[in-house]
Amino acid sequence: MKKDATDKNNMDSRVVEDFGREWQAFNQNEIADEALLSAFSQYFDIFPFEKINQSSVGFDMGCGSGRWAKLIAPRVGRLNCVDPSELALAEAKNKLQGFPNCHFECASVAGASLPQESQDFGYCLGVLHHIPDTLAGIKSCSEKLKHGAPFLLYLYYRFDNKPAWYRLIWALSDVLRQMVSRMPFGLKHFVSQLIAFSIYWPLSRMALAFEKAGFKVTNFPLSDYRTKPLYFLKTDALDRFGTRLEKRFTRKEITQMLGEAGFVDIKFSESAPYWVAVGIRG
Ligand SMILES: C[S@@+](CC[C@H](N)C(=O)[O-])C[C@H]1O[C@@H](n2cnc3c(N)ncnc32)[C@H](O)[C@@H]1O
Repeated sequence: MKKDATDKNNMDSRVVEDFGREWQAFNQNEIADEALLSAFSQYFDIFPFEKINQSSVGFDMGCGSGRWAKLIAPRVGRLNCVDPSELALAEAKNKLQGFPNCHFECASVAGASLPQESQDFGYCLGVLHHIPDTLAGIKSCSEKLKHGAPFLLYLYYRFDNKPAWYRLIWALSDVLRQMVSRMPFGLKHFVSQLIAFSIYWPLSRMALAFEKAGFKVTNFPLSDYRTKPLYFLKTDALDRFGTRLEKRFTRKEITQMLGEAGFVDIKFSESAPYWVAVGIRG
């Protein structure tokens, strides 16, 4: 598949193809419930669950393997799981077999068939920084929501809350990403696993050791992974180094985009992973 950044579907076909293969390689089924719940709460802690109930209808935009849908589906009436990757949707369908209230659509954020102003809630985690026009993607999500509906968004941060040396380390890692992400899938998978074992694992476990010794590790590279199982590290190394299109945003930029897309009462999570934000469709 070729990339078409001007695609009216607002998606990069090569990125979608790679994600499908990523979810095939790491379908997330072997993650222990406790670890999954802990990662889930990093995103959903700020979500106003009091606004949804067993009759609510909502969407998981860019659902991937369906790992978050599995935890949201039991709380709602209907969950629309949307992803443009057939391979990702196959994994999600498999994972969500026990939830007849999950419905699947193979579509990009710009092409999803959900009627305008039909949804009681929505979330879109780790998706819209991998598409050509992020603001347009947020607006597409907004249009699907009823007025007063909450929307949870996670976008990669531009290290606006980190020191300059941290940004320098990221810039170096991004040179590596530019190279690895252009490799054929098999090779990038292999290299990403080397990165997981030789960089993610030692740095994250070093952060854990420092924390246990009483040090603050907020700015220690990869400290967010310090208690996460190796499986997360392997998935995220492929996600991070295998994806060609990656954008980053400051908290201010995300606030502006959400505002422009019609969201009010915007709140951010103050802890990793940055930036997770929730807004209410005005
Ligand atoms: C990093 S994964 C995140 C998956 C899931 N939200 C999660 O957090 O586990 C990004 C997902 O976005 C999907 N995606 C890519 N481009 C998209 C687009 N234009 N519209 C909707 N989803 C898209 C990919 O197929 C992939 O499954």
